[in-house]
Amino acid sequence: MWYLRINLVFVVAGVVIPGHSGYRHQHKRAFVMGSISITVPTLSTDNPTDKLGEVKPLKDIRINVKSTDFVEDANRTGYTIIEEPSRSKRQLRILCVGAGASAINFAHEVQESDLDLDLVCYEKNDSVGGTWYENKYPGCGCDIPSVNYQLSWAPSAEWTSLYVSPIVTRPIITTDTRNCSYSSASEILAYFKGVVDDYGLMRYIKLSHRVVGAFWNEEEKMWHVKIQRGDDPNDVFEDKAHVFINATGVLNKWKWPAIKGRELFQGPMLHSANWDYSIDLKGKKVGVIGSGSSAVQIVPSIQPSKSF
Ligand SMILES: *[C@@H]1O[C@H](CO)[C@@H](O)[C@H](O)[C@H]1NC(C)=O
Ligand SMILES: *[C@@H]1O[C@H](CO)[C@@H](O)[C@H](O)[C@H]1NC(C)=O
Ligand SMILES: *[C@@H]1O[C@H](CO)[C@@H](O)[C@H](O)[C@H]1NC(C)=O
Ligand SMILES: *[C@@H]1O[C@H](CO)[C@@H](O)[C@H](O)[C@H]1NC(C)=O
Repeated sequence: MWYLRINLVFVVAGVVIPGHSGYRHQHKRAFVMGSISITVPTLSTDNPTDKLGEVKPLKDIRINVKSTDFVEDANRTGYTIIEEPSRSKRQLRILCVGAGASAINFAHEVQESDLDLDLVCYEKNDSVGGTWYENKYPGCGCDIPSVNYQLSWAPSAEWTSLYVSPIVTRPIITTDTRNCSYSSASEILAYFKGVVDDYGLMRYIKLSHRVVGAFWNEEEKMWHVKIQRGDDPNDVFEDKAHVFINATGVLNKWKWPAIKGRELFQGPMLHSANWDYSIDLKGKKVGVIGSGSSAVQIVPSIQPSKSF
């Protein structure tokens, strides 16, 4: 195997700084002595099937330059030398709306990153979990098997519903949440809360903070974001960020269907996305509008034989 190795050693005013980064040009009057040793292509001794060779520096070049030479060079060619170590990282402040699955995943990315990132996630509700916190209607669950519906960096061994029939290759659908591969909303919520706790992601999240406005300031090159604390519409403050992330998801803004006369209905009205468990369905005749996945989950779950 061929390889090339270059070592640079700079001696600046008696301090040895190895490598090619990390020295500053303000040592203008100091002498910089550069020692460059170049190891040219040779054969590796790692692989016994290679014809073996020995690593020998072919040439040792020593140069003496003044650091001001660099500045003069840069001046002549129209470049400006930035007076900071190369590979310095620019700090980015990131503001994220929401603390659901997407924001939790992103917060973990930020935590793992070696970039200089400062993240805050503003969540309107008093809990993390997003749609899995807000959707709690009877029978609510995910239509993706739990083994797939989880964060790849935090797989859970705790799912109570992992069973996939060996005969029927697709998962068995049953209303018994202990024996279907689709977990319930409450179990998924517990999973996300657990992940946030286990990974210490709460430090990025501010609960009961609703983002109510955002605009880009071209001069500052920053987002100016308005945030309401709690329920008081007058308690609004401003925050700024380089990057603004909309992690609100698509299931967030529920609305009543446009059915003429709907608002004239005298009895209680429930929406799957905003279920009110204080309304007792026992002994009542219930009409369900819609036959999508929520209705498919709700109808068997509110049968008279079920208690919920
Ligand atoms: C380089 O240019 C700057 C600005 O034009 C000047 O202040 C500085 O003295 C120059 N440096 C050298 C080493 O020529
Ligand atoms: C989440 O916040 C919204 C807006 O404030 C509210 O309407 C909703 O009821 C809250 N959800 C829960 C489960 O508290
Ligand atoms: C789930 O269903 C399978 C197949 O019908 C059965 O063998 C198993 O005992 C059930 N498990 C639970 C927890 O009910
Ligand atoms: C944020 O994303 C949601 C879902 O995609 C979208 O409905 C909403 O308009 C977006 N908001 C902004 C301010 O872009």
